[in-house]
Parts: sequence; C-alpha cells; structure tokens
Amino acid sequence: MRLDIITCLPRLLESPFSDSILKRAQDKKLVEVIIHDLRPFSTNKHRTTDDYAFGGGAGMVMMIEPIDRCISSLKEQRTYDDVIYMSPDGELLTQALANQFSLKKNLILLCGHYKGVDERVREHLITREVSIGDYVLSGGELAAAVLSDAIIRLLPGVLSDETSALTDSFQDGLVAPPVYTRPAEYNGWKVPDVLLSGHEAKIQDWRHEQSLTRTQKRRPNLNKE
Ligand code: ADE
Repeated sequence: MRLDIITCLPRLLESPFSDSILKRAQDKKLVEVIIHDLRPFSTNKHRTTDDYAFGGGAGMVMMIEPIDRCISSLKEQRTYDDVIYMSPDGELLTQALANQFSLKKNLILLCGHYKGVDERVREHLITREVSIGDYVLSGGELAAAVLSDAIIRLLPGVLSDETSALTDSFQDGLVAPPVYTRPAEYNGWKVPDVLLSGHEAKIQDWRHEQSLTRTQKRRPNLNKE
C-alpha cells in the first residue's frame, strides 16, 4: 500500500510515522507513506497556499491551484483508489471504514487547514471525505495520522501477532474484554481465577461473555450507531 499525504504543515506529520508500529511497517516495506508539502506547488511569489474568502469573513481558505497541481502530479505517476479529504463534516471513521481502506492500494489524504479548502476541491478533486469524530481540530494532519494508523495496523504482516487485529475492540461489533498481566495479585486486587486456570475453552467463553456485557454496558448502540 502507498499513502500520499498532502499538507501545508509537513512537520506535524513527521513524528507519528517515525516510531513504533508505523515506522516498522515502513521499514518492512509493507506500506509507503509519503508526505507532500503543498508550498512548492504554489505558483505565487511568496509560495502561499491560502487566501481570503470571497464574500469576506474571518479565516483563510486553502487555494485550489496548489492542491490541484500536487494531486495531478501524483495521478500522473499512478492511479489512486481514493482521494480522501480529512474534514469534520466527512463520513465518520469506524473500524468498518478502516477495514475497507486497508484493502486499497494507493490512497491520497488531503489535510485541510484554516477555514478549509476552496469548495471546488471537494466538488472536483476529492472522492471521499472522512471525519475522525464530531469535534473540530486545528487541521486535518492529526486526523490523517489517526486514519493512517487505523489502516496500516490492519495490513498483513504489520502486527507481529497476526491475529491480534482481529480481536480488537469493534472488529466483531464488540468491545474488547479486560486483560491482565503479572502479578496475579496486587494490593489484594486479584486477577480473575479463570484466567489462571489454564483451561483454554473456559477462558475463551469468559472473554466472550465479558465482551458482551461490556458492550451492553459501555456502548449499547455500537452496532446501531
Ligand atoms: N479536520 C478538522 N477537524 C477534523 C475532524 N474531526 N476529522 C477530520 N478532519 C478534521
């Protein structure tokens, strides 16, 4: 898989991809993540990528030309499954959506800033819009990092225990059961006996039961949201 992320603040995206699982996935060549600074695609003297809104009002708007030039240069080199704009009014990111994107080959993620992008970008250059939640961030960069993480960890070979992504919360419409590690007792607080029993079938039953009751208690609308 290849992810091309377009941003006017490339430094904001450096750290999430330089550590831990996302770094290892790139080192193992399971995913290629390329961050594109929008500035060099600007044609004006000061290399600006935003301008005042027609009709007035506070806040700058990201111009269509640098975005179009950047996306076009990428499209000349390969075909993309989707060009995704990160936006608070986009389709809400769910595990099901992350699963869908993890099956794609080439994706472009466009990060908005200020008051967002010129509407013509959304009308003509974008194929999907994704929100990571009903709140407004200062820009799309952190949202793009969240979406990328949710996708990349699903790619075959990225997680060392291949089955662990399948047992994540939400993957089967249930939240994950509680987990414990040593010591078996701390401050008098005990790990449930069944987990120490060595009885595999009983442990699986207990975990499933816990997932069901937890989902009911914490996220009763999980499958209806
Ligand atoms: N940009 C600003 N807020 C956002 C959000 N909640 N999701 C995706 N992109 C955003």
